[in-house]
Amino acid sequence: MSYSTQKEQEKAVLVGIIYSNKEDVVSQLKELERLSETAGVIVLGSTYQLIREVNPATLIGEGKVEEVKNLITEQNANLVIFDTELSGSQAKNLSEYLGCKVIDRITLILDIFAKRAISNEGKLQVELAQLKYNLPRLSSIQGSQGSVGMRGPGETKLELNRRLAQDKILKLEKEIAKIKQNRVVQKKNRNLNGVFKVSIVGYTNAGKSTLLNLISKAGIYADDKLFATLDTTSRNVYLEYGKQIVLTDTVGFINKLPHNLVDAFSSTLEEAKDANLILHVIDLSNPDYLSQIKTVEDVLKQNDIKAPVIKVFNKCDLVENVQSLNGVFISAKKNIGIDKLKKEIINYMK
Ligand code: GTP
Repeated sequence: MSYSTQKEQEKAVLVGIIYSNKEDVVSQLKELERLSETAGVIVLGSTYQLIREVNPATLIGEGKVEEVKNLITEQNANLVIFDTELSGSQAKNLSEYLGCKVIDRITLILDIFAKRAISNEGKLQVELAQLKYNLPRLSSIQGSQGSVGMRGPGETKLELNRRLAQDKILKLEKEIAKIKQNRVVQKKNRNLNGVFKVSIVGYTNAGKSTLLNLISKAGIYADDKLFATLDTTSRNVYLEYGKQIVLTDTVGFINKLPHNLVDAFSSTLEEAKDANLILHVIDLSNPDYLSQIKTVEDVLKQNDIKAPVIKVFNKCDLVENVQSLNGVFISAKKNIGIDKLKKEIINYMK
């Protein structure tokens, strides 16, 4: 059964799930809204449920399902996006009852990654993650090619046949292993020239590409969407006093990254693993910046990245009081504080 067509605009109702009153459902739904918009979906409404006991058939309780159905009718929506992982049968049951396509946060993120992957390895990693995620869900996948959750990276079509999908998974794993091997060799060769390597990391949309652009005048794609950059980009940069560095942008970090994507994500952090210095870019104008800092710090720790870190508080043009934090304050967009940042980097080179 197919509910949507490629041409039809996808209009969604979002469903947040929390398991305790302590969770900040508003900011979780806000992030899901930004992810949805990044995937090209219009968000028309949202609701959430505090779940004390999981309903195995539909995750949320019967009353909530009814409420979501009313919301869909009211808003004339054709898609429901859950902010948590749904099993194949839950997605299928919900979709039958609600009469429209139902996807989860993971499918949405995979879809965005699929659109944004640029390098060969990035594309292969995303396709692998999609296949692995979809394999146990093949019977419940709905929607036409080209709609959210149905798009593969680049020109590839999502494989919906179980046996073919399994073969493809093995093939992709072999290809990725080969690329990784090549990268180790390349890295060894590159290490010989002893250049000072600086990696920019940070939560998605923090302003990493804008900063790299500004420092290196590189012309990298910067967009007010999540994950505008999926692959790493490196540039040679001459700082003042004749000091040269290699500056690398990395993929944006995000809370609750689908576990199938962790590998794809880690591989984009290869450059950061090798860095002499990390610039942790923080969007100071985002009300959630403290938890975003924590997400990034956790990922750095999990990936065993131990280089010294400069906290770079960005978008300070949008914020009034910034005195009490320890780090460098900049606006990458307005070119504020960049000389100070360069001096800080140079201090670490001594
Ligand atoms: P991902 O690729 O998602 O990881 O994003 P990123 O961290 O590379 O962010 P990017 O540089 O794409 O910037 C995200 C948005 O923030 C863009 O719309 C930028 O124009 C905007 N932005 C970046 N720096 C600043 C700043 O200093 N001030 C303001 N007001 N906006 C900024």
